[in-house]
Amino acid sequence: MSLSVNFNYCGGFADDNKLASIQSEITAADSALRNGTGAGSDYLGWIDLPVNYDKEEFARIKKCAEKIRSDSQVLIVLGIGGSYLGARAAVEFIRSSNYNLTCKDTPQIYFGGNTLSSTAVAELISLVEGKDFSINVISKSGTTTETAVAFRIFKKLAEDKYGKEEAAKRIYVTTDKQKGALKALADAEGYEEFVVPDDVGGRYSVLTAVGLLPIAAAGIDIDALMQGAASAREKYTNTDISANDCYKYAAMRNLLYRAGKKIEIMVSYEPYMLMWNEWLKQLFGESEGKDGKGIYPSSVIFSTDLHSMGQYIQQGERDLFETVLWVKNPIADIDIPFDEANGDGLNFLYGKTMHEINGNAHDGTVLAHTDGNVPNILLTIDKQDEFNLGELIYFFELACGISGYVLGVNPFDQPGVESYKKNMFALLGKPGYEELAKELKERL
Ligand code: PA5
Repeated sequence: MSLSVNFNYCGGFADDNKLASIQSEITAADSALRNGTGAGSDYLGWIDLPVNYDKEEFARIKKCAEKIRSDSQVLIVLGIGGSYLGARAAVEFIRSSNYNLTCKDTPQIYFGGNTLSSTAVAELISLVEGKDFSINVISKSGTTTETAVAFRIFKKLAEDKYGKEEAAKRIYVTTDKQKGALKALADAEGYEEFVVPDDVGGRYSVLTAVGLLPIAAAGIDIDALMQGAASAREKYTNTDISANDCYKYAAMRNLLYRAGKKIEIMVSYEPYMLMWNEWLKQLFGESEGKDGKGIYPSSVIFSTDLHSMGQYIQQGERDLFETVLWVKNPIADIDIPFDEANGDGLNFLYGKTMHEINGNAHDGTVLAHTDGNVPNILLTIDKQDEFNLGELIYFFELACGISGYVLGVNPFDQPGVESYKKNMFALLGKPGYEELAKELKERL
């Protein structure tokens, strides 16, 4: 069995009448999504992506990943937002959040181009010093400042080290198939190119070359990842909420939101899922947070954060609900040893494993938080592997599209992201922004 969802800890919200009251909205959202009649319908390519993808490019991704593994100690992945979070989440989810510290026969993978912090970029430069490296620069628009600035710096580093010709063989570009500065540069320099499909937006692009090349370079089985997503695509088609856990989750989120539960906390008990939570936060935050509406996505790793955020969740503002992801069979488990002296008084744990203790923390927390009026939606996966991750990715993408339509927003655009960019360009003196620059400087 793979992904399962339990709605029994949602307080009165899982009530059949409540769910029935939102069924017609879910049906309408499904119709808008499947027939391409809703807002943002130019960006629905992700729906069929698990089966309808460019097979030639997929094979080329695997070949290039193999080349990177054979000629590079380090792969630098440059991208931001949807052009980075999915890949990083997958590498950490499957391999480890300490991937770069683990013993392995795959390259170190450092993610850059996602910050304007000079300290972070300087550190990244120092990390590749004396190492053979390749670069995968990812930007759908090909113009994102954080990524473009980092690429300029690392391209020079590669050319200084290898010469222009050899450097070009170590640079992999993932961008639009015809437009943008990065596309023009890649054509001019002869870099290996991969395409971000026109109809797939950044935060829905992890199953394109955007995510797949770095994921494959980390030695992860991208066929199994796609199979998991394809299985979810088959599984969650019924419009009836009671027969479709993905739609039921979308329905539940909206019912909870309408009842004042405006913050969703993504919970995991596995530290490897810290970046997975970040991916989820972008998916929901950027898709739903607009027009003065939207559930605010946040995240925690338990039991770690029970010692920092647990107090608030138990007794703070009652505008929260939790979506908890539990892994049934962990990547590794550990027996609790017997201690003759029992100085720590922990011999009652002898015979148990760490994962069993974690499971008791999970169960105890679910009960405590629901007692504290925090509804819990419980997701369980069999294990932390490629297939399960693929299924989860698709489950949440679909839930997000449906949930966004029920909320009444366009889940596939992100107009608000432009505001800071315009101001930054004006303040940097970019031609064409003179008027705005004057106005902003008066306000600063
Ligand atoms: O989801 C999105 O659309 C964004 O997060 C983008 O992925 C992000 O802004 C990066 O854009 P680009 O890929 O054009 O550099």
